[in-house]
Amino acid sequence: MADLDGNVNAKDFAPTVPAASFGHAIKGAAAYDWGMQHRLGRVFEGETGRTVMLAFDHGYFQGPTSGLERLDLNIAPLAPYADALMGTRGALRTSFPATTRSGLVLRASGGPSILKDLSDEYPAMAMRDAVRIGADAVAVQVFIGGEHESRSVRNLTGLVDEGYEAGIPVLGVTAVGKELVRDARYLGLATRIIAELGAQIVKTYYCEEGFEDVVAGCPVPVIMAGGKKLPELDALTMASNAVRAGAAGVDMGRNIFQSADPAAMIQAVRAVVHDGLDPAEAHERYLELAAARRAA
Ligand code: 5RP
Repeated sequence: MADLDGNVNAKDFAPTVPAASFGHAIKGAAAYDWGMQHRLGRVFEGETGRTVMLAFDHGYFQGPTSGLERLDLNIAPLAPYADALMGTRGALRTSFPATTRSGLVLRASGGPSILKDLSDEYPAMAMRDAVRIGADAVAVQVFIGGEHESRSVRNLTGLVDEGYEAGIPVLGVTAVGKELVRDARYLGLATRIIAELGAQIVKTYYCEEGFEDVVAGCPVPVIMAGGKKLPELDALTMASNAVRAGAAGVDMGRNIFQSADPAAMIQAVRAVVHDGLDPAEAHERYLELAAARRAA
């Protein structure tokens, strides 16, 4: 119990000053429990309300891919540049120091490998393990239009219900089947379904036409998935277009860890997402950082 010696009576209650009310830079978050808002605040950067999320969960269905051969060597050194890490519990527990300060978004769905139908997923992590590991969100693939669409939606809603109990947000990932077109109509359908069923964050791909409508039609933050490896300037342009259309940041994997200099690339992505640099300026920064690292 506090030491009563020297206690000073309270006197300044500022009775004319209204009680503080805290708006939330994160779309749709105002009614969430404090704990869930706090965890979202560890994923999204406070000033911009945006995130640079580094995705390296690809191994959960495709094993080691180029740039992910050694998570401890390839990805862990990039963590200081990431607002949030999106990976598996197996990756974190084996390949990252527990002192990692980035927000943690844990992959919580899984099942098929690339050898089978990727939409045939089930929950792949109990929410109590997400709590144990200190997750700030869990991620689940939602295959709207896929063979197992309803089950993937059930995977989502089950995690959302458990997430409400634990105060852990759910990131719903738009998984686009090969036979589907990544246009605004489809992405608008998928993102809205995911948000209406309770996800607190939605991740989807970028589309040239109408992406601003996809974002505006979704009542929670939309973050852009990077997708397949592009030339660095193209990837930076896509990220810039996405945030300028209202996306709350990016969740990029291959365009960072498969670039010639991943550390330089994630810093260039940060310059686009958080500092508002034009793609060309950010690409210049990428080249300068990469050259400086080579010279070191
Ligand atoms: C695949 C995922 C990835 O997290 C997502 O696609 C982002 O990675 P990339 O930028 O390489 O597409 O959901 O499991």
